[in-house]
Amino acid sequence: MKVLVVGSGGREHALCWAIAKSPKCEKLYAAPGNAGIAQVAECVSIKAEDVNELVKFAKDEKIDFVVVGPEQPLVDGLVDKLAQAKIKAFGPSAKAAALEGSKAFMKDLLATHNIPTGAYGVFDEPDAAKEYILRQDGPVVVKADGLAAGKGVIVCHNKNEAYAAIDHIMTERAFGSAGDEVLVEELLVGEEVSFFALVDGKTAVAMASAQDHKAVHEGDTGPNTGGMGAYSPTPLIDAKMQKRIMETIIQPTIDAMAAEGRPFKGVLFAGLMITKDGPKVLEYNVRFGDPECQVLMARFSSDPLEALLACAEGRLADTKITWKRNTALVVVMAADGYPGHYAKGTEIKALDKAAAVDGALVFHAGTKAKGKKILANGGRVLGVTAVGKTVKDAQAKAYEAVDQIDWPEGFCRRDIGWRAVEREQK
Ligand code: AMP
Ligand code: GLY
Repeated sequence: MKVLVVGSGGREHALCWAIAKSPKCEKLYAAPGNAGIAQVAECVSIKAEDVNELVKFAKDEKIDFVVVGPEQPLVDGLVDKLAQAKIKAFGPSAKAAALEGSKAFMKDLLATHNIPTGAYGVFDEPDAAKEYILRQDGPVVVKADGLAAGKGVIVCHNKNEAYAAIDHIMTERAFGSAGDEVLVEELLVGEEVSFFALVDGKTAVAMASAQDHKAVHEGDTGPNTGGMGAYSPTPLIDAKMQKRIMETIIQPTIDAMAAEGRPFKGVLFAGLMITKDGPKVLEYNVRFGDPECQVLMARFSSDPLEALLACAEGRLADTKITWKRNTALVVVMAADGYPGHYAKGTEIKALDKAAAVDGALVFHAGTKAKGKKILANGGRVLGVTAVGKTVKDAQAKAYEAVDQIDWPEGFCRRDIGWRAVEREQK
C-alpha cells in the first residue's frame, strides 16, 4: 500500500523507519519530512499544518493510508477531511483530538466520568480565576486551555506567581486565543510517567510506558523543552500498575469518549503522575510523544503498519501487538541556545559512525540536506537511540553513538535515564 506520514520530527523519522520495514508498505511518502526521513521515504514539501494541501496530495497520489504525527493537523480536522475523501488515517478526528486541544474539555470529561485526576477550576475571566486561587490551600498549576506548543503550563510556587500567570495568559494574551480560558489545577506530587495505548474507537491495547526529560539541563534543571531524552519501559510501571492504569484510566476514557459521540482512534498518550494515592492524569496527548516515539519504535516487534492500520479499521481486538523485552533510550541533540534562540545551518558530520555503534539508531529531528552535507535545521536536531538489556546498557550505547557525532554547535544532556539507572543499581 501507499503510505503518507505527516510531520518532520524525530517522531516521524522513527515512524517512517518502522513503517518502511513492513512488507505491506509499497511506497512511503513524508510531508514535509527531513534529511533523515529522505533516506527511507520520498519527501514532499507540504507543511504538516497545511491540511487542505495534504488532502489534495493524498487524493492525487491515491494514498491508501495516512499516519499523522503532530497534534495541530489532528485538532484542525485532517483525519475528518481525509475520511470525507475516503482515505484511511491513523489519528483521531477533530472532535476526539479535543482531549489534547482543550484542557478544559479533557478535565471535564475525566471529572464527569470519575477518572482519577487533580482538582481544578476553569475560568474565562481573570478575577474569578484569582478568587479561586485565593481559596486554594496548596500550590497550583495555571494552564492555557488551548494548544500553546507545550508552553502554556505554568507551575506556580505561591499565590503571587499564580496571579502573575493568570495575567500573563489572560491579560497579556501570551498564547493568543489558546488563553481565552484558563485552568487552575491542584499541583500533583509524585513521579511523572508517559503511558501509550493504541486505540481503535472501542478497544485499547497498552503499548508501553516511557519517561521523558523535559528540562534542558542535567539534573532536570533549566527551562522546559519539547523533551531532551526518554527511555522505555520505565521501571515505575510494572505489570500490576499497567493493569491498574488500563482499567482505571485508559479504558474508562475511551468508553467516555465513545459515550460522548467522539470515539477515539489513534494513540492515546497519557501524562500521568504516580501519586501516593495511585496514578492520576496530568494531561492527554492524541499522538505519539517526541522523543518517546523513537524509543517505542525501537522496541516494537510486530508489524507497525499493520498495528496502526488496525486502529484505523477498528480491529485492534484481533491484532497481536508484541514488544522486544529490552530497554531503549534516546538522547536528543539540540542546537546551542535551544529552547531559546539558536542558529540553523551548522554542519553535522560523522553520523554514519554513530549509526555503526552496535544497537544504535540515529533519528533526525530537525535536519536538512545540502548536497552531501547534513545541516541543522531546528532546535531539537537528532535523536540518538539505542537498545540494550538494561537502561544502563542502552544509555552507554546511546552516549557512545553521541560521542561519534562531530557537531560543535550542538549539545545534549549527559544524564538521560538517571532515575532508572539509580533504581537498577539499588
Ligand atoms: P502538560 O502540558 O499539561 O503535561 O504540563 C506540562 C508539565 O507540567 C507536565 O509534564 C508536568 O511536569 C507539569 N504539570 C502539569 N500539570 C501538573 C499538575 N497538575 N501537577 C503537577 N505538575 C503538573
Ligand atoms: N515529549 C513530550 C511530547 O511529545 O509531548
